[in-house]
Amino acid sequence: MKFLILNGPNLNLLGSREPDIYGKSSYAALCEELTLFATRIGCEAVCFQSNHEGELIDKIHSAREEFDAIVINPGAFTHYSYAIYDAILAAGLPAVEVHLSNVHRREEFRRKSVIAPACVGQICGLGIYGYEAAMVYFLDRKNEA
Ligand code: DQA
Repeated sequence: MKFLILNGPNLNLLGSREPDIYGKSSYAALCEELTLFATRIGCEAVCFQSNHEGELIDKIHSAREEFDAIVINPGAFTHYSYAIYDAILAAGLPAVEVHLSNVHRREEFRRKSVIAPACVGQICGLGIYGYEAAMVYFLDRKNEA
């Protein structure tokens, strides 16, 4: 299976951005680990990060031709981007929403995701393992089909 791993705004600053919340690993290290993990389970993962809503939407649209599933951490877009919600539905690819932190233990505004209803599910608070769990889920689901 081929996964598109999307990360939204400010996630390029992983490692230096609030490390007590998001961890000490850089975005580059996250991508390296996730692409390696994907190959270990016999899959492929391509990482893409943008601070711009439109770029994420363009990537979701074009994913249709190239990918089997999307793993998305929309960053703060989670809480208000109906455009990303619509893009996931329009692409018709199954998606899992991931958050590094436990959004339910933080500020009130982080508890609401407008994107999760377009996704198969949401994983939060498990750090990098959330992305890996999402890939394993899609692979198991495919093998069971
Ligand atoms: C985040 C949680 C969001 O609320 C926040 O805006 C982020 C990161 C997470 O991975 O925990 O940028 O998506």
